[in-house]
Amino acid sequence: MHWQKADGGRSFLRALPVLAGSAPPFDVGDAPAEPLPLFIEWIEQAAQAGVLEPHAMTISTVDAQGAPRARVLILKAIDESGWHFAASSLSQKGRDLSSHPAAALTFHWPALVRQVRVVGPVVDDGAQASALDFLGRPIGSRAMALTLRQSQPLADAAEIDAEIEKAHRKLADDPDLVPDEWVSYAVQPTQIEFWQGSPDRKHLRLSYQRVDDDWERIQLWP
Ligand SMILES: Cc1cc2nc3c(=O)[nH]c(=O)nc-3n(C[C@H](O)[C@H](O)[C@H](O)COP(=O)(O)O)c2cc1C
Repeated sequence: MHWQKADGGRSFLRALPVLAGSAPPFDVGDAPAEPLPLFIEWIEQAAQAGVLEPHAMTISTVDAQGAPRARVLILKAIDESGWHFAASSLSQKGRDLSSHPAAALTFHWPALVRQVRVVGPVVDDGAQASALDFLGRPIGSRAMALTLRQSQPLADAAEIDAEIEKAHRKLADDPDLVPDEWVSYAVQPTQIEFWQGSPDRKHLRLSYQRVDDDWERIQLWP
């Protein structure tokens, strides 16, 4: 099966299987009162089912003009202060978050026909948490981050090697160096939706909505 230009790839795309995974039992009526235990159960099951990088999530932001952007990032942790990820405040996503501190996170675990969507405001975790995150990264990743050039136009590929070498020299001089622009962020969810696909299209959707200090559970039409 190949992409046919003549039909805009329609026949190729239509022939690809969807909802091809194997969904484990999910009793919506028996779901926990809070979303976190369910998320932990689902991400553990995704890892056990062999989903590659189950902690990779699509994070969607909007810029100052309201233009949306999405990209994949790695989830670092979840605790009482939120769902954590880290980025340079100078990157496109960092700039989006400065002007519009809110995000949507989307996890997709195809082997289990599952999706989780998280929405909420985003806060800066502060200098200490940001430094901890930065210093916990492998040296290569710290050097690349230290270039502070993510999302800028790259005119000459050789520039990368020169900038990385410069960053490695800085890190050799000061192993505890943390750029002010490295930020650990936290999404503080106001809504978390668990979706499990079904071949009969009666997909299961359970939405948790934050109401004051509590969570309200609402089942949604597929
Ligand atoms: C599986 C996966 C993991 C990624 N992890 C990161 C990450 O941890 N940090 C990062 O800056 N970009 C990561 N990226 C690249 C981002 O998706 C994105 O291209 C980059 O952060 C620039 O985004 P921006 O221009 O919107 O700021 C990852 C991409 C994939 C596919």
